[in-house]
Amino acid sequence: MPKTSKRNRKSTTATSVDLSEDSEFDTSATILRVNSRQVLDSRGNPTVETDIWLRGGATGRGTVPSGASTGVHEALELRDEKRSVYGGKGVLKAVANVNKQIGPKLLGRSTLEQEALDILMLKLDGTRNKSNLGANAILSVSMAVARAAAASRSVPLYKYLIKRKKYRLPIPMMNVINGGKHAGNNLAIQEFLIEPIGAKTYVEGLRLGVEVYHALKNILKEKYGNSSTNVGDEGGYAPPLEKTTDALDAILLAIKNAGYDESQIKLGLDAASSSFYDPKTLLYQIDGRSMSSTELADYYDSLVTAYPILTLEDPFSEDAFEDHAKMTAKLGKSVKIIGDDLYVTNPERIRKGIELKATNAVLIKLNQIGSVSETLEAIKLSKDARMAVAVSHRSGETEDTFISHLATAVESHFIKAGAPARGERTAKYNELIRISEELGHEASYAGSNFA
Ligand code: PGA
Ligand code: ZN
Repeated sequence: MPKTSKRNRKSTTATSVDLSEDSEFDTSATILRVNSRQVLDSRGNPTVETDIWLRGGATGRGTVPSGASTGVHEALELRDEKRSVYGGKGVLKAVANVNKQIGPKLLGRSTLEQEALDILMLKLDGTRNKSNLGANAILSVSMAVARAAAASRSVPLYKYLIKRKKYRLPIPMMNVINGGKHAGNNLAIQEFLIEPIGAKTYVEGLRLGVEVYHALKNILKEKYGNSSTNVGDEGGYAPPLEKTTDALDAILLAIKNAGYDESQIKLGLDAASSSFYDPKTLLYQIDGRSMSSTELADYYDSLVTAYPILTLEDPFSEDAFEDHAKMTAKLGKSVKIIGDDLYVTNPERIRKGIELKATNAVLIKLNQIGSVSETLEAIKLSKDARMAVAVSHRSGETEDTFISHLATAVESHFIKAGAPARGERTAKYNELIRISEELGHEASYAGSNFA
């Protein structure tokens, strides 16, 4: 991605003026108009959407997602807090911040200067966690800038973000059973994921996952009744289960019934454990028991031994760097320990994690940090430290497919976009089908890295 519009100083005479893409004389990527509005996310909550119009006729849009099990260290999502309107969840203040404060500062600037524009917004905000303008306001603009810039160059977003000869497409991590804050059942673990590593292509991997998702539906119906296949926020089933192992057993059976085995489809857990951790007692409430962090570590150990688990996300609470480090030292050879709430896509926290060897993988969510440039920095840091990268949606999503392009651009190992059901989830998986078609032979699949 061009950081700034590099001005070509080689041509000094009027007769050899450089009118190439990056030339200062090319104003097609210049911002003419910025407009933000309030729209709805997949949970029916308001969110921020921004459109940008360029002089050359191109446009770009960014629509921001929203979490439920948000980390305390995330950048601030600005809500109106007016209880009588949308239960306090309106985002009209953030929208006004774009239209009245950010927008006017961007007019006349080139969208090719992603980093410079992101820094301009950070400075305008002036806080560490974007609490003044709102991370949702800033991110909607940042995403729209990247989209418009790509459109102005007539290239797909992933190619604009990072230009490569060949691309590697991510393994879909599909959340097929929902628990925790995403469902109304008693499962403490928030997400039970399937990860089809044993496929040759992304499209084949997706198919394997979808077939298991459907096989799981039959198993749950038979065992727990029709209502057990009602779905949670991310499209996964939300059966009335109590125990982690009940969910894992059902998924293993589904893999078998769909005609696959454990070498082809691995399992993942997102414990999102801050949501069942009590900082007063230092205990975790899971599976009807109270566990210390040492007991919980032993419990994970037993699960990893008994089941083909490839990824374990947020096993301990969001500030427990040491507990994560112990787990990574013990299980890190065979399991990817992923930091989500631990890092909140924040380069500073990721640096700390690298130093402490806290995890060997990172979850990336644009709205945790609130700008495209900082997200790219977080990914670069993680990749340089040889951590596996999973680009992720939020439980409250929109039809925006930015993360499909981001995952492709940075060659993330995984993309986490929920179950293969509900439009806001399939939008991401479907965009990757289109990208895969466009790339043809130039696209490999990340599955072989773990097979
Ligand atoms: P959230 O959950 O979007 O509700 O935070 C997703 C996750 O924890 O990975
Ligand atoms: Zn998570």
